[in-house]
Amino acid sequence: MEKILVLDFGGQYNQLIARRVRELNVYAEIIPYSGITVDEIKNREYSGIIFTGGPNSVYDENSPHFDPAVLDAGIPVLGICYGCQLIAYMGGGEICQAQSISEYGKTDLTVRQSPLFEGVPGNSVCWMSHTDYVKTPPAGFEITAVTGSCPCAALADSGRKIYGVQFHPEVTHTEYGGLILSNFVKNICGCPGDWTMSNFAESSIAKYREKLAGKKVLCALSGGVDSSVAAVLLHKAIGENLICVFVDHGLLRKDEGDMVERVMKNEMGLNLIRVNAQERFLNKLAGVTEPEKKRKIIGEEFIRVFEDVAKDIGKVDVLVQGTIYPDVIESGKGDAAVIKSHHNVGGLPDIIEFEEIVEPLRDLFKDEVRAVGRQLGIPGYLVSRQPFPGPGLAIRVIGEITREKLEILREADAIFREELDNSSFRGQANQYFAVITDCRTVGVMGDARTYGYTVALRAVTTDDFMTADFARIPFDILAKASGRITNEVRAVSRVVYDVTAKPPATVEWE
Ligand code: XMP
Repeated sequence: MEKILVLDFGGQYNQLIARRVRELNVYAEIIPYSGITVDEIKNREYSGIIFTGGPNSVYDENSPHFDPAVLDAGIPVLGICYGCQLIAYMGGGEICQAQSISEYGKTDLTVRQSPLFEGVPGNSVCWMSHTDYVKTPPAGFEITAVTGSCPCAALADSGRKIYGVQFHPEVTHTEYGGLILSNFVKNICGCPGDWTMSNFAESSIAKYREKLAGKKVLCALSGGVDSSVAAVLLHKAIGENLICVFVDHGLLRKDEGDMVERVMKNEMGLNLIRVNAQERFLNKLAGVTEPEKKRKIIGEEFIRVFEDVAKDIGKVDVLVQGTIYPDVIESGKGDAAVIKSHHNVGGLPDIIEFEEIVEPLRDLFKDEVRAVGRQLGIPGYLVSRQPFPGPGLAIRVIGEITREKLEILREADAIFREELDNSSFRGQANQYFAVITDCRTVGVMGDARTYGYTVALRAVTTDDFMTADFARIPFDILAKASGRITNEVRAVSRVVYDVTAKPPATVEWE
């Protein structure tokens, strides 16, 4: 299979580069510069290499460098921003450390003829974000583009198929960025562009069938999209040797536990153990009101439940995790303040005896995971679901968690989701759910006074969940949802809509 190596030097757009290449139907793999050698690159038969950008200056003592032999490996290279400067530096060119002037944002670009710029007009707009630039290209390279303040906006040694661009072709603001990447990947590297998610699924299944032959493999299934897709993929590879454990903590949405069991066990044929641990979790959570404490309790209890199950299963060889690419990136950051301690199955490796962890979706973005899920035959309603937090409804029941409040929340939440899914607003909110507040208010029903719960509806639009805005749901849709909730759900006397963005609020109420 043709594949491109995206050699990561720490830039902010690195995920985007891989994504753009995959959009051209060419598989791209991101590997940190420190994680691979030139010999390994040769052995893995990459069709091309893209050096990413990065925050450093090539002359910094600790800036990331790479073995210059990579330029003589006979594999086409494209360096972007820092990657371009690195190519120049490796070849003996001169980089200018601009002290004060940096070029940032949309910039007019003039290109000369070059295989990289095939079909790109002489003048267009590109996206720049840099301080340093190449002053003198190395011997054998020519300058192929300039901007008003950058004398070498692109360089090329077409004979060796080595190219560099100071601007960012992966960013949509670069008018012909897609064409430039396509020229590199398809024309220069010769990738046919026939990679699809079905190729990914097929080749992964074949790979794991061989790699995990005869091994006992365990997967903690949360019911979410990522672990479900990872589990089905491995099930197709090794069948019954994959044991899936689904811990139902009783904090799932209406009918969700049963749906997960039905689809995974009956429809997909997984070797699935469902642990009904609702009582255990509720007992541990009794009287607890503090959000972080709820999260910690759920995380710990999850591990305790798993520990009990693991005793029966015995030693396993391999543990499967549904890690996806954004998780890998997020966990790499590390110094951001902890706003909420996100719960996942991270504690499992400490309690289970195993030899190896396998993460089949580690290189994929969320929408690619969903596409693989569909390829594998997982029903659309399961793979297209909106994100749902690990601690589940516990962080949507404000104050103490009781069976009554959980029950009310499940019903109200199901109604709200149903109304939105059946409305003209369908597909426009990225996450939408109900919250049961700890506030009772007076109402009137028939001729009688009521004193019931206040349910809040929350719907957000967002690209990455780091920031979000409240969804502008038309009033008549909200009115219908509110009417149904107060009519159909006992003990709710008031419904409110949350009109706060993130920041300052968060998506979840706790
Ligand atoms: P916040 O509330 O932090 O939510 O703005 C951002 C996204 O993360 C989800 N979320 C969680 N996911 N465990 C999870 O697996 C958690 O503890 C957790 N808390 C929030 C939230 O649903 C939203 O999609």
